[in-house]
Amino acid sequence: MFYISLAVLVVQNASLILSIRYVRTLPGERFFATTAVVMAELLKGATCLLVKQFALFLYDAVVVQYVDTLKLAVPSLIYTLQNNLQYVAISNLPAATFQVTYQLKILTTAVFSVLMLRKSLSRLQWVSLLLLFTGVAVVQVEQGQVGGGSSPGAAQQSYAVGLVAVVVSCLSSGLAGVYFEKILKGSSASVWLRNVQLGIFGTLLGLLGMWWAEGAAVAAQGFFHGYSPLVWGVILNQAFGGLLVAVVVKYADNILKGFATSLSIVASTVASMYLFGFRLHPPFALGAGLVIGAVYMYSLPKAGPPLGPRQEPTA
Ligand code: C5P
Repeated sequence: MFYISLAVLVVQNASLILSIRYVRTLPGERFFATTAVVMAELLKGATCLLVKQFALFLYDAVVVQYVDTLKLAVPSLIYTLQNNLQYVAISNLPAATFQVTYQLKILTTAVFSVLMLRKSLSRLQWVSLLLLFTGVAVVQVEQGQVGGGSSPGAAQQSYAVGLVAVVVSCLSSGLAGVYFEKILKGSSASVWLRNVQLGIFGTLLGLLGMWWAEGAAVAAQGFFHGYSPLVWGVILNQAFGGLLVAVVVKYADNILKGFATSLSIVASTVASMYLFGFRLHPPFALGAGLVIGAVYMYSLPKAGPPLGPRQEPTA
């Protein structure tokens, strides 16, 4: 560090003097030198503040709360697997088939919420979850021909591989989501801190998975091989979606997250009718009706004994 800092100082000093001389001798309006001094001080101060805050934050996240950090390794591992499996599933199945099958996560989430968070759901709420799953499935079937039609590159696609990947993703979505919810709601730490801890493991485990599955190819062709603006768009969307899930789980829960996404599927189909002239068919109306009915049913006040581990005896 001693030699590196000296070398950097030599280069920085020389370039500073030359660049000052250059900008001060350019033709045209001259900037105020005193404002440049102010700006440099401000930038220095702000950088140090950010670095200090960030260092403190990381120290707290990784070292002080190491027990919690380790706990987050579990959902992080499951989510990393899920995020990779989703690419496998979507690459092997038509989009509509993937979407329909992936809705099974509504049911796995409910089962894990009952088992791990000891949530109790009434009979009516279980029925509403089944209706929600059926409704979204009907809407999705209507949007695309499930399993049918050959898409470009269909020859390299394996239906069986895609199906296994999506079913494991559903189990993972329920388990990881509820695990994260349990950790988040079991302490007062902020959702941001928890996501930093999740992200640290996610990055490390993701790199491990990359090395194991495609290490040689990535080494030969480069990490960013084939990246286009669209690929960057997918990545940004996925990252934004993940943060959104974290916030929704903080203020609501994983089951309600399922309702929100189901409603958004219906809403986006309705929007595409207006925007792209999509025609409304009776199956869509049926599916949408089931989803809306399920939302209503789930929100009804509980009556009768709940179904779940915390069953209270009826009076
Ligand atoms: O389909 P599902 O709702 O299970 O997807 C959740 C997504 O949100 C995953 O990609 C997961 O990595 C991400 N996530 C996140 N931070 C959380 C919870 C989930 O990035 N705290």
